Amino acid sequence: MINTNVDSEGIATLEWDLPGRSQNVLNEQTMAAFADAAQKALADPAVKGILVASAKADFIAGGDLDMLLKATDAQAMSDNLKQWHRLFRALETSGKPVAAALNGTTLGGGLELALACHYRVASDNPKARFGFPEVTLGLLPGAGGTQRAPRLMGIQAALLFLTEGKRIKAADAQKQGLIHSVVPAGTERDAARAWLLEQATKNAVPGKDGKPGKTLQPWDQKGFRIPGGGVMTPSGMQTFMAGNAMLREKTQGNYPAPKHILSCVFEGLQTDIDTGLAIETRYFVSLVRSPEAKNMIRSLFFAMQEANKLARRPQDVPTQKFTKIGMLGAGMMGAGIAHAAATAGLEVVLLDSTLDNAEKGKAYSAKLLEKRVAKSQLPQDGASAILARIHPTTDYPDLTGCELVVEAVFEDRALKADVTKKTEAVIGKDAIFASNTSTLPITGLAEASSRPANFIGLHFFSPAEKMPLVEIILGKQTSPATLARAMDFVRAIGKTPIVVNDARGFYTSRVFGTYLSEGMALLQEGVAPALIDNAGRLAGMPVGPLALADEVSIELVHKIAKQTKADLGDRYAPRAADQVAALMAEKLGRFGKKSGHGFYDYPAGAKKHLWAGLAEHFPVKAEQPSLEQVIERLILIQSIETVRCLDEGVLASPQDADVGAILGWGYPPFRGGPIGQIHTMGTANFVAACDRLAEQCGERFRPTESLRKKAAEGSQFFPI
Ligand code: NAI
Repeated sequence: MINTNVDSEGIATLEWDLPGRSQNVLNEQTMAAFADAAQKALADPAVKGILVASAKADFIAGGDLDMLLKATDAQAMSDNLKQWHRLFRALETSGKPVAAALNGTTLGGGLELALACHYRVASDNPKARFGFPEVTLGLLPGAGGTQRAPRLMGIQAALLFLTEGKRIKAADAQKQGLIHSVVPAGTERDAARAWLLEQATKNAVPGKDGKPGKTLQPWDQKGFRIPGGGVMTPSGMQTFMAGNAMLREKTQGNYPAPKHILSCVFEGLQTDIDTGLAIETRYFVSLVRSPEAKNMIRSLFFAMQEANKLARRPQDVPTQKFTKIGMLGAGMMGAGIAHAAATAGLEVVLLDSTLDNAEKGKAYSAKLLEKRVAKSQLPQDGASAILARIHPTTDYPDLTGCELVVEAVFEDRALKADVTKKTEAVIGKDAIFASNTSTLPITGLAEASSRPANFIGLHFFSPAEKMPLVEIILGKQTSPATLARAMDFVRAIGKTPIVVNDARGFYTSRVFGTYLSEGMALLQEGVAPALIDNAGRLAGMPVGPLALADEVSIELVHKIAKQTKADLGDRYAPRAADQVAALMAEKLGRFGKKSGHGFYDYPAGAKKHLWAGLAEHFPVKAEQPSLEQVIERLILIQSIETVRCLDEGVLASPQDADVGAILGWGYPPFRGGPIGQIHTMGTANFVAACDRLAEQCGERFRPTESLRKKAAEGSQFFPI
């Protein structure tokens, strides 16, 4: 695990080399092995300096998340961390120089180990990134990162770095004071060695006191000052005041990790490093055990990783490489999808009913690329190459040779049938036809196809070039091979797929819709609109339900409700939201944001505000529910609908449900997802809450039989 070698000049190299893994990670085993090697080197009088390095392409990728997900024993975790701190402090204070040669990416615990070395030299490897991503999974750097980073970078810069979880390049890490030098790739070990030898030579000369010199960290030297000033200086106080306020605005108090990071820095930097480390340990242990961290690690890391590794892909189908695809419709969605595919290196035939429309779709890409070039994110020739891959046309024969065609024309069944037939007349027998419909059942659309086995739904989100999720919808006749190849396509353009079965609203629109309709039901009941939308945001949703209904368009909500009613007849269960949408869209002509009038008014050049006329149509009752009661309804309605999707086989796994919710409609990750929310509450508590809400608000909250069974058995959706 740690290859050790002491050379003739007394430099011990401790090289991280975790067997069987592509990257080095910190866990109990690797740290025990490193501690053993380090202690030997520290104790060996022949060793004059210690070089920490990696045998992999990167330095160390961070902590072992599997270990952190499972960790529950506070005492054991705390003892463990204390051992790590003791080891890092021994490296810092033994007097022997210690240097880290950072050949590649150095994240989390890897960066913390590097900061405990006296000297850090990085290779100019363009792929290397440095950072503390812990906060993005609900954690904080627990191996000294919150104490050493601000003592090197200054409080303000460190707070941003630690709470945003940004990954920066070597040159920026040097500018920020995190590393000492950047050298040509492949020479970092030589550079670190040269520094160690120089230090060792200096240390060999006795000081005024007759003792040999010591290499020490800045914070262990006399007269150390925090760069930019300490916590109690005017600038320090200002930083914390502003930091607290900004954090509150961003997280609504839902994410304990950034708050604890602020506390670690605030408390730890008023004291010595050893006390600071003890403070950090306490906050770290409380975070690792928090439901927020467990939820974020499970959903954002493990479930997302599974989705990206295509865990649900039928396995016996060879992986398909894509080189040329077709895009029907160059509107808002078509232009975005074409851009994503061209950026990923695919040739895209962009077909619309007029050349002017098709060209407009391409111009959308040109604009996006221009912006990236202006920001130096992309060289001009790279941008030109992407743009050259988009071929606007009106001629179906141009689609010849496309391996897959995505349809994003108007949401009209007859029109979609027409373009399907025209396309199938020119593409190969094997090619896939995918519809980006947001509401029409895939099985019905496939009736227009002469090869329904190759017909599938690929539901992108707007803006398609940015949004990471694709909901893949299986029609009744879609073949496993088509699913496998469609999943290959989704990964080829860098998106994350979830797979769902064909049902009204699929998964995402169906559950997302319950959030909007619950908001409207509350309005109908006389709950103050400001309370409804504030509750949505405080619950962690990106936007309140009424504001969101405006953005999606109240008219569309109304249309979908009417269509569903017409399709289902007697089986349709009327909802309070239907009356609200009908009144707003039909009687009052308030269609939503696009028209400038919805639940909000959108005055030109000014901020939106709630429409004053709401009070007349939805009188606010004297007695208002508490904030917690409104939040409970807005959140639990999504969970119960998701359970129905699982029960009905629309969704295959709770992991897909949670990934789809977080990526698809911005469901708050600290809750894990609609199923993570149930897991956090405990199934029995969730069932009890839903029964209570069903009595108070209606049958839509009634728990399903599967849930009652789970609750009775005391079982959960996830092991942890
Ligand atoms: P859009 O109105 O912006 O674009 C549709 C494009 O199709 C237009 O450029 C139009 O000229 C073109 N078109 C119409 N008839 C055509 C024909 N016969 N042949 C070729 N092109 C034709 O619509 P948008 O928003 O891009 O939606 C397209 C599809 O994507 C719809 O099915 C919609 O339900 C679905 N969708 C929309 C989402 C959204 O947020 N807008 C999200 C997910 C899916």
